[in-house]
Amino acid sequence: MSLSVKRSYLITGGTGSFGKQFLSALMKRPNVERVVVFSRDEQKHFALQNEWGNEPRLQFFPGDVRDLERLERAMAGVDVVIHAAAMKHVPIAEFHPTECIQTNIGGAQNVISAAFKMGVKSVMALSTDKAAKPINLYGATKLASDKLFVAANASSGEKGPKFGVVRYGNVVGSMGSVVPFFNRLIGQGATRLPITDANMTRFWITLRQGVDFVFRNLDRMQGGEIFVPKIPSVRIVDLARAMAPTLPQEIVGIRPGEKLHEVMCPREDGHLTVEFEDHYVIQPTITFPDRKIDYTLNRLGERGWRAKPDFEYRSDLNDHFLNSEEILEYNKIAALDPRAELPASTPAILRAKSA
Ligand SMILES: NC(=O)c1ccc[n+]([C@@H]2O[C@H](COP(=O)([O-])OP(=O)(O)OC[C@H]3O[C@@H](n4cnc5c(N)ncnc54)[C@H](OP(=O)(O)O)[C@@H]3O)[C@@H](O)[C@H]2O)c1
Repeated sequence: MSLSVKRSYLITGGTGSFGKQFLSALMKRPNVERVVVFSRDEQKHFALQNEWGNEPRLQFFPGDVRDLERLERAMAGVDVVIHAAAMKHVPIAEFHPTECIQTNIGGAQNVISAAFKMGVKSVMALSTDKAAKPINLYGATKLASDKLFVAANASSGEKGPKFGVVRYGNVVGSMGSVVPFFNRLIGQGATRLPITDANMTRFWITLRQGVDFVFRNLDRMQGGEIFVPKIPSVRIVDLARAMAPTLPQEIVGIRPGEKLHEVMCPREDGHLTVEFEDHYVIQPTITFPDRKIDYTLNRLGERGWRAKPDFEYRSDLNDHFLNSEEILEYNKIAALDPRAELPASTPAILRAKSA
């Protein structure tokens, strides 16, 4: 999407971890006319509004993605929607599946319907590695959401909105994740760190990298893609050792709904996967005859190549595992205020490429 044209944005889940970081980055960009922050809890709106003071381009819009009418009102005059609102805690979703389904699937369908009705130009939805070969309800709802966005794109036509999906893995330091959990235990003087499984691996990304990846894909998007970044993996035992080198580790067993390793591009989608220098694209399995898109060449002019039919992008098969030093660098960046600049010493791997 050209940065020379003034655009209005709406971020569902704009008061969440991703939403706030995306907002900070967006407000530094040129030609941002208006940004609508959409989420439910008025306290979070109030706090964020106070942080931004008297910023005339910001509009705080309390609302629920389950409420189509409210979404339609919020999308009036909006060009670009970033859909980040979700229920994302695996155990809560297991216990309360209908809540998760209503927000993650019903909410996604409402975002799509409102975008069509209000003439939005682009919609980028956030997904997760847990949506690839899902084994828990959270992942299953995000897979259903991915499918809704991809199908919406297929039926959109030349003039309708473009829909795309960004799928990535564990965000370092995000609420409820392992880094703050270990930090809390270490701070409380724990005598050992609990490890679910000695072999467990995860994909690893900072929020800044996630935000930058979303921006770049808004520029790359033709519509219908699932964008997956090439990111490193972490062995959880290495993480624990880096954060607390002298603490013994205690194996406590894998938790309900948890995988030993995560997948971002499943083998079953190998024939649909296109590899680029720094990311993969999973192209839609469905196409409409009047809309043939060449997914090996994106709108930034980047040329990709077809992955092998049995290709799988899995956290334990990654070619880059973070070492202790890199793990601590990631933790340092994750702890920074969303609006703070990166320190000059930040290694290249953690520096976002600008679009
Ligand atoms: N964090 C990770 O490790 C990770 C990894 C991969 C993908 N993702 C994906 O990235 C996205 C953003 O995650 P995050 O870490 O920023 O989550 P987060 O910090 O929990 O933020 C979620 C946001 O969504 C809003 N929200 C929740 N339910 C809503 C509803 N029914 N209607 C409107 N707003 C609602 C929340 O505010 P209210 O509760 O006030 O409404 C909040 O603003 C999600 O789609 C998630 O699946 C996250």
